[in-house]
Amino acid sequence: MIYITTPIYYPNDRPHIGHAYTTIMADTFARWNRLAGEEVFFLTGTDEHGLKLQREAEKRGMDPKKFVDEMSSIFKEYWRLLNISYDRFIRTTDEDHVQTVKRALEKLYSKGLIYRGVYRGWYCTSCEKFLSSDEYIEKDGKKICPIHGKELDYVEEETYFLKLSLYEDFVKDALRKDIVYPPSYAREILSKIEKEGLRDISITRPKNRVYWGIEAPWDPNHTVYVWIDALLNYVTAAGYLESSEKFLRIWPSAHHFIGKDILWFHTAIWFALLRMLDLPLPRRVIVHAFIVLRGRKIGKSAGNVVPIEALIERYGSPDAVRYLLLRFSSLEKDVEFGFDQMDAAYNSELADTLGNLVRRLGVLAKKKLSGVVERSDIDRDLEDKVINSVKKAQSLMNELRFSETLVAIFDIFREVNAYLNRTEPWREERPRRSLYNAFEALRIGTVLLYPFMPSTAERIAKALGFEIKSFEELEMGMRDTYNVAEAPILFRKVREGQ
Ligand code: MSP
Repeated sequence: MIYITTPIYYPNDRPHIGHAYTTIMADTFARWNRLAGEEVFFLTGTDEHGLKLQREAEKRGMDPKKFVDEMSSIFKEYWRLLNISYDRFIRTTDEDHVQTVKRALEKLYSKGLIYRGVYRGWYCTSCEKFLSSDEYIEKDGKKICPIHGKELDYVEEETYFLKLSLYEDFVKDALRKDIVYPPSYAREILSKIEKEGLRDISITRPKNRVYWGIEAPWDPNHTVYVWIDALLNYVTAAGYLESSEKFLRIWPSAHHFIGKDILWFHTAIWFALLRMLDLPLPRRVIVHAFIVLRGRKIGKSAGNVVPIEALIERYGSPDAVRYLLLRFSSLEKDVEFGFDQMDAAYNSELADTLGNLVRRLGVLAKKKLSGVVERSDIDRDLEDKVINSVKKAQSLMNELRFSETLVAIFDIFREVNAYLNRTEPWREERPRRSLYNAFEALRIGTVLLYPFMPSTAERIAKALGFEIKSFEELEMGMRDTYNVAEAPILFRKVREGQ
């Protein structure tokens, strides 16, 4: 069992390539695990409460629920377009989630972990977070959020606090286990806690300021802080309210994919919260860096959004977008967005290496063998190279190195191209051996490519006459016959630099 989650996104606007980035990564990981024979439960959704959404709805003169209804269906449309194979799309306005939040908070309250107080501080509505003096920057006497570049609001109000400080040692220990990946991110949070300690956090807002939220079970004048509400989505969907057997089967295998902007919430706060609720920690928190444009994180606040459509239109298919976003992905380093490098990769890797190969093999099989490629003996040299790349791809994927995994998969396609150039089947009358070997290698590459580019992989399989079922098929000589249906043109080149 493996439970895979994305962050639940704020539906204050349509998703952009930053949201697509995490979602495609998680989807690829989900599909990869399914092919590897794992039972997968894959969750995504929308984070619908809080001040940010309340303000956005007000700005549009809309009822917040109506607004999030509309926006969450837009998210679903984008994920359908991008072939995201989620098992559940959770909304924090879903009834089972609202009940989960209430039940969890009642438990914390009855354990004496919540107390009343006054909060004074600077708030970033875009982050939905209070920023400490170490976190904000000062410019012309104003306090500014370093991520969103926006002026902070001063807030002084009655609130309920959660006794996070009691869990400092627990959180530090948890950060030393191998949960956070890559581990450098765990060290970052550890040193922050070592420097500042772990302070109690404000977990409610007065209803007269933030009415768009789940009511605190012990005080109807307060709503639950949106981040506490949001984090609990992961346990709602694992069945917190249902049978504990189901929950305990799913929950401990949780793999959370997140961007580094929300690392603090998914470690310090989340680990402590789970402990307070007597629940096990997730298996993994997988963190990636940002897609940036001229050094700034792509996002609505910075005003440098790259719409998902811009990529789909340019590269002609959602699958090409999936490929390019992961081809230039990194967990550790921010990636500068640029059409130039994407154009070059699209043309040389997708159009030339893969597209031409599929076309060439389809045409040759039809012309020389009437579209029927039958079993022949295996070319050991090609087999060695292919198996080597398969192993490499698998071990890179174990380390969640998506970009390098793609390179290893494309090594197979490059190898088949080189093999064809070597064996020159176009010179032979019935080049059965070289075509069978090329087909086998291409089939293996296509099975590995499926999690990244599901529609393209299916299309290749259908055109050349094979099926994609599981990673048990990653050996040469497993298929008897190919009945070639067509020789498709998969990708049309783009004009670079325009
Ligand atoms: N609602 C919270 C998450 C709650 S999870 C319990 C939130 N939502 S968000 O809409 O702001 O989405 C944040 C996530 O989107 C980031 O953590 C990251 O995964 C992804 N990204 C948004 N912009 C991005 C980039 N420019 N680059 C990479 N990822 C980006 O925070």
